[in-house]
Amino acid sequence: MKGLILAGGHGTRLHPITLGVSKQLLPVYDKPMIYYPLSVLMLAGITDIQIISSPDDLPLFRRLLRDGSELGLSLSYAEQDKPRGLADAFRIGADHIGDDSVALVLGDNIFHGPGFSGMLQGSAADIDGCVLFGYPVRDPERYGVGEVDARGRLVGLEEKPARPRSNLAITGLYLYDNTVLDIVRDLRPSARGELEITDVNRVYLERGRAELISLGRGFVWLDTGTHDALTEASQYVQILEHRQGVRIACLEEIAWRMGFIDQEACHRLGRRLAQSPYGQYVMEVTAAG
Ligand code: DAU
Repeated sequence: MKGLILAGGHGTRLHPITLGVSKQLLPVYDKPMIYYPLSVLMLAGITDIQIISSPDDLPLFRRLLRDGSELGLSLSYAEQDKPRGLADAFRIGADHIGDDSVALVLGDNIFHGPGFSGMLQGSAADIDGCVLFGYPVRDPERYGVGEVDARGRLVGLEEKPARPRSNLAITGLYLYDNTVLDIVRDLRPSARGELEITDVNRVYLERGRAELISLGRGFVWLDTGTHDALTEASQYVQILEHRQGVRIACLEEIAWRMGFIDQEACHRLGRRLAQSPYGQYVMEVTAAG
């Protein structure tokens, strides 16, 4: 399975912060925002990943993450010259996807919860159709919304409905088989002029090929779309990391634990960042083995 991270857009809801820097490079406590979605793909076992962003911001992502080889990854970069919608990612990433399946994660989505890695790896294996992840929220009208029947099966999907039929938001992580490329080829822009991911998902649903996994209580899906949400996300990460002494979305540690790099290589990566608590953490976990 190939990975795509969509990290473009203008970040207008975060102005003036995002006038000078890409939203997905803003800090969420101790690391850049894009580390979180990148860690999700890594935990799914995906190593071949394309990062899509605007022509202005792409060089900054490249400077941060380079070719990924130090983390045992293969990272490539592709431009989205303007925000044409989330489903545009599959048109841009078509060559990268080839005849493989694909996971798309939005560059501003943060996931954290027990058993997430195993759940992802299970869903990614032999995918037939699409897998969506639902999360109960207080304000579903801000998101794509999934409607489920009494048995929890997905029966409807709507993008930002004025009157949501459920409180289940469709999160910014999507797994697809290769037919997604055929679907986006025929896709037309919505009334707001975007290629909607919800329209792609609806095609899968109509074909009886859409599965919804509910991320229940005890799971955390954080939004970073507003100043408050961004601050709250940082606070969540700070509290958890202080309390437990572990770090969320530490790419070096994940690369090591997933077997993409060995312990010694991981330790070396930590040493390079040894002036920061983040780097010291990488050194500590690899010293303990
Ligand atoms: O976060 C989950 C939600 O993401 C889903 O529930 C919705 O169904 C989905 O449409 C999307 O809604 P948003 O309102 O959050 O989408 P937004 O336009 O804010 O874009 C999400 C991220 O993707 C944001 O960081 C900017 C980036 N983006 C967006 C567009 C439209 C791009 O890189 N390129 C684009 O063309």
